Amino acid sequence: MSKKNTEENKLVVNVDLGKEKISKYIYGHFSEHLGRCIYDGFWVGKESPVPNTRGIRNDIVEALRKINIPVLRWPGGCFADEYHWQDGIGPYEDRPCMVNTHWGGVTENNHFGTHEFMDLCDQLGCEPYICGNVGSGTVQEMQQWVEYLTFDGQSPVSDMRRANGREAPWRVRFWGVGNENWGCGGAMRPEFYADQYRRYAIYCRNFGENRLYKIACGANTADVHWTEVLMREAGRLLDGLSLHYYTVPGSWEEKGSAIEFDGDEWFSTLKKSIYWNELIAMHSSIMDRYDPEKRVGLIIDEWGTWYDVEPGTNPGFLHQQNTLRDALVAGTILNIFNNHCERVYMANIAQTINVLQAMVLTDGEQMLLTPTYHVFEMYKVHQDATLLPIDLVSVPYTNGDETIPAINASASRDDEGKVCLSLCNLDPEREMSISCRLRGMKPARTAGRVLTADTINTHNTFDEPEAVKPEAFDKMSLTGDTLSVSLPAKSVVVLKIE
Ligand code: AHR
Repeated sequence: MSKKNTEENKLVVNVDLGKEKISKYIYGHFSEHLGRCIYDGFWVGKESPVPNTRGIRNDIVEALRKINIPVLRWPGGCFADEYHWQDGIGPYEDRPCMVNTHWGGVTENNHFGTHEFMDLCDQLGCEPYICGNVGSGTVQEMQQWVEYLTFDGQSPVSDMRRANGREAPWRVRFWGVGNENWGCGGAMRPEFYADQYRRYAIYCRNFGENRLYKIACGANTADVHWTEVLMREAGRLLDGLSLHYYTVPGSWEEKGSAIEFDGDEWFSTLKKSIYWNELIAMHSSIMDRYDPEKRVGLIIDEWGTWYDVEPGTNPGFLHQQNTLRDALVAGTILNIFNNHCERVYMANIAQTINVLQAMVLTDGEQMLLTPTYHVFEMYKVHQDATLLPIDLVSVPYTNGDETIPAINASASRDDEGKVCLSLCNLDPEREMSISCRLRGMKPARTAGRVLTADTINTHNTFDEPEAVKPEAFDKMSLTGDTLSVSLPAKSVVVLKIE
């Protein structure tokens, strides 16, 4: 039985004020050649007994289509700066193998390459975001990959594409120039990388009508010096600057278990998720100095929870379960990204299948949807909607001598004028009453859904795949322009107001 909060939570949604659009790309995803994300995840191969279309698993595509994936980042991650795209085209028997040194030292057979990835994007109905190799690749190699993909005229490289079965060029907009080049992508200093970026990016050409949106490797967490140098030295030549930060409840050495955790770890995980507010503010303020018009997008192309790997699995495969806690992390961070959509143009949760904060877990022919998947499904209403500014006063949620706001929220208005409000109650024990004033609107009706569970670590398993799933929600009432809502403890709620 959850306790009821008696203090006051207040929200004002300024329905008549919105001007920024919540870019749908904030709801993007990231899939790397890592563990069982691509192989034994998306890709089962054409001969597999698992139902597939040209080697790509049908059940996964069907599930992911329901969350409207707008963009998918590939092939890494750290893998990107070791990947040589020409190894992943042509007949399978001719594709050379390589060692995936970053991720488990397994042999990569290169069966999932450029054509397979572009086919996957077509099947998902999403845009590709390709990350090129700066760390161990050449300028020519990156230049030719863009040409292979997007050049409609005749050239040795585009003819190679035709010989491999693809006549028309593809449209590719999002192009990453390296990944984590301060670390696994070459251990570079920002000054050196800024020059490398300028050199590589200049050779990534716009062919025909294809226009590249070039994304430079950005900072690790709070490394504002990296952002400063990149904006100063290369700001005019880039469209997007990335930023990576993972939510790790403990330390990098002892991250904590994905499913066996107590109230302290629940709290620290959510506190570290809220840190996104600060991070975005500190990097944005530097970007604002060099780019007051906000032309350059902040591209958060890796985020999510990172726990100790599931016991008994390959430590290099980063396989972890996903509980109600991950749902609260996703709901909270997506609220933060929505509220910063004046600068955040894209975000890509890591990673779609079987790795880190996944949407989908598989075991042979079986597949399950995680609590995080359900948050993406519930929040898809925000994609490309107009952000509504909010004023939120939340009661504190205290753990020991630390405090965070119990409630976080974001709101948007769609083209038909319907308002969507997403609310997270982080307190694991107290139900929260909140009064939401919809200033500038005459609301007539509301409907909603809630995602919660009995315990903080409830998760979906192959035996019980629906332990956490959204349910209809009716604990709200309308009086004039004010909506009174009772948020269950540890819940994500999405309301539609007309
Ligand atoms: O997502 C796992 C890894 O985390 C990525 O390969 C890398 O970019 C980051 O350090």
